[in-house]
Amino acid sequence: MSDSNLNKTLIVGIITGSILTILSTSLISYLSKEKKEDDDPTTDIVEGVDGLIGNTPLMKIRSLSEATGCTILGKAEFLNPGGSSKDRVALNMIKTAEEKGILVPHTGSTVFEGTVGSTGISIAMIARAKGYKAWIVMPDDQAKEKYQLLEKLGATVEKVRPASIIDKKQFVNLARDRALNFTHGEAKGYFADQFENEANFSAHYQRTGPEIYRQTGGNIDALVLGAGTGGTLSGVSCYLKQHISKLKIFLADPPGSGLYNKVKYNVMYAPTEQEGTRRRHQVDTVVEGIGINRLTKNFDKGRHLLDDAFRVTDEEAIKMSRYLVREDGLFVGSSSAVNCVAAVRAAKKLGPGHIIVTLLNDSGQRHLTKFWSDEYLKEQNIHVELDPKETLLDFVK
Ligand SMILES: Cc1ncc(COP(=O)(O)O)c(C=O)c1O
Repeated sequence: MSDSNLNKTLIVGIITGSILTILSTSLISYLSKEKKEDDDPTTDIVEGVDGLIGNTPLMKIRSLSEATGCTILGKAEFLNPGGSSKDRVALNMIKTAEEKGILVPHTGSTVFEGTVGSTGISIAMIARAKGYKAWIVMPDDQAKEKYQLLEKLGATVEKVRPASIIDKKQFVNLARDRALNFTHGEAKGYFADQFENEANFSAHYQRTGPEIYRQTGGNIDALVLGAGTGGTLSGVSCYLKQHISKLKIFLADPPGSGLYNKVKYNVMYAPTEQEGTRRRHQVDTVVEGIGINRLTKNFDKGRHLLDDAFRVTDEEAIKMSRYLVREDGLFVGSSSAVNCVAAVRAAKKLGPGHIIVTLLNDSGQRHLTKFWSDEYLKEQNIHVELDPKETLLDFVK
């Protein structure tokens, strides 16, 4: 080899060597950084109890999907730290009040709410985490584990006789009144007002809706939900409908609630409203958390998006809850059972091959002494048992 050829070979060799060294060093440093991030314990840490709220998984409910030929998905809201979807609402209502300067932590300020339970538990939890007190006014006919939980979380619990919304002693009216009359130096009383508070709607519009969209890639045919305040139904519907125009939205309504007739015929009316025919107060059902006989701001925001409504009987809801344990090992509360019955109705209406989303609002653990108690149901003259051979389509008509 001539001298000049030898020089050329050396130069090419040096350049190639340098490039390979740079590439391998970069690769090693990239891989070790990746590894460091994987090992870094701080990347998976959330900030306080409120950091645990939301981002709940969306689970395929196998039994319902197989029986209907649709994909029925339930958002596992019972995995929120306070045990229900209401954690999102309580957090957003308190945050919004802080942003408006209404609530200042560690001043003795108190959050007042009238609730059938779940929202109260979420408020009590977040109030503790953020330096407030909680005062919860509740009807006295709710499952006793809800009062116990509230007391353990350090809330003041005021139980009142169930009454009509026009009665000053109705639980929501009383909570508003308590907040208005609360004066303790610099401490303020804040009435959370989940039925009318826009922060309820926006908790679901800003988080629950986008989570469902992301989890499904927008591939959904129908959303099926019950409504109490209506915040979940309106917030999730308004977000999803903006992004999925073909989406069908169905209300799931328990007995005694006027929403079914409002959606179908634009008249707020429940047959049990007739004098003397109603068995229980708020709504005539063993289901807790959904069903109402007045139009709230939060329900009204999404009402125009509803395509239809399904009425779900107590018997169907009870059988569904027992069926989900039998087939899937899934232990849900009463409003989730109503949602699942209505999701099956939606599947039957749409036909096989559709994707249907609903919410699993809370766990059966919140309902052990009522919806899940055979003794309680017998006392209420409800004699429902799921026959071991009974199939889904035997009890969901
Ligand atoms: C267990 C449970 N499920 C569902 C709902 C209904 O949600 P929303 O108030 O957003 O209509 C509630 C409301 O209190 C509830 O407590």
